[in-house]
Amino acid sequence: MTSPVDQWDIHPGHFWLRGKHPEKSVEYDEELKMWNIYGYSECAEILGNPKVFSSDMMRLDPIKLDESIVEGDFTHTDPPQHRKLRGLVDHAFSPRLVARLESQVHGVIRELLDELQDKPRFDLMKEFAAPLPLIMISDLMGVPASDRALLRQWMDKMLDGGDEFESPEAQLEGQEQLEQELGLLWEMRDYWRELALDRRKQPRDDLISGLVEAEIDGEKLTGSQISNICNRLMVNGHLTTAMLIGNTVLCLDAFPEQAARVRADRSLLPKAIEESLRYLSPICGVGRATNTDADIGGTLIPKDQMMIVWTGAANRDPRQFENPHAFDAGRTPNTHLGLGRGVHFCLGRQLARMEGRAALEALLDRFPDLRPDPARPPTFLQVVDADGVDTLPVLTQ
Ligand code: HEM
Repeated sequence: MTSPVDQWDIHPGHFWLRGKHPEKSVEYDEELKMWNIYGYSECAEILGNPKVFSSDMMRLDPIKLDESIVEGDFTHTDPPQHRKLRGLVDHAFSPRLVARLESQVHGVIRELLDELQDKPRFDLMKEFAAPLPLIMISDLMGVPASDRALLRQWMDKMLDGGDEFESPEAQLEGQEQLEQELGLLWEMRDYWRELALDRRKQPRDDLISGLVEAEIDGEKLTGSQISNICNRLMVNGHLTTAMLIGNTVLCLDAFPEQAARVRADRSLLPKAIEESLRYLSPICGVGRATNTDADIGGTLIPKDQMMIVWTGAANRDPRQFENPHAFDAGRTPNTHLGLGRGVHFCLGRQLARMEGRAALEALLDRFPDLRPDPARPPTFLQVVDADGVDTLPVLTQ
């Protein structure tokens, strides 16, 4: 079976995107020394049970990195500490506060698209889909507008970092690469520390000021906790939403009859966005480690094993989704795992959905003939746990 994905240079290992099904829902990779989880019910079960399937994978890290590089980053913690840390920023992403940001999002979109209005061709990612979430998340956090370009450079460098799920041997060999990545991390941490110091002296109405004031069990956060939380919000809040916008444009182009449905009935757009999260999930795999022996779908996984929960593959599981390889802009229900599930369920989901909807709405309004440039095919991020467009040259006339 051919699929639109065959024309894109997406990660070759992501076989589920090409209409193939895994032989087993759970399998062990001898070379990577990791368990691959592909089935929907198996993935959902793991994400729903943080007691057994831990997000603290650093303890099994063969390189034994300095643990301060993840200190405070709640993505790598389990309950009850996870709840305390996430609780410090949760409120900033509540539906009520996200709704308040909507008019600002429309303003940023207007400005970005005004610049592009008369151009016959442009790169949708570079000139629209990436700047929009970067501006929004950096404003929310309290980053001065003059520093946005610097943050963008850091994000780009980070993506050049390569494969997060390499074999332990390959990870050990990539010493030089690792040092570069750590150098970048320290640079970013210094930046957040300075901004936090500034807010300590002069608090403002932004997320960094909130973190500087915050306490857990009666103690203020350390400089590295604040920096790691800021890095997490910056990375997750920017790149994933950019991918969602670009991926949705590509999906609608690949399925013209679905694009026509959405154009004819704009109320379908939120569902089309959910379908894009399912069909081409920007984050397609998340890591976990077993705290105890565990039985998953009839397979015994011993204690202290690393696993990749392939939510992208689960989103194509025919046991869960009818006709999983078709893009159905009105799919109902759509219980995809593209934003995760359980205690680590995406913190920024309301923001991402709102930005995605506003961006797509504006593109449909302003550029009725917008389409990928056949002479310059899109390129994709070559990161193993992501399926996201990186450059997307488009024609507007
Ligand atoms: C379409 C865009 C997005 C996608 C596809 C996405 C995807 C995900 C996924 C799959 C997870 C679960 C990770 C896990 O279980 O280990 C997650 C968690 C998270 N997301 Fe998103 N995300 C998006 C947008 C955002 C935005 C805009 C923010 C804003 C800051 C954000 C912040 C986070 C954070 C902080 C977590 C960690 C939550 C925790 O560990 O409790 N995400 N996201």
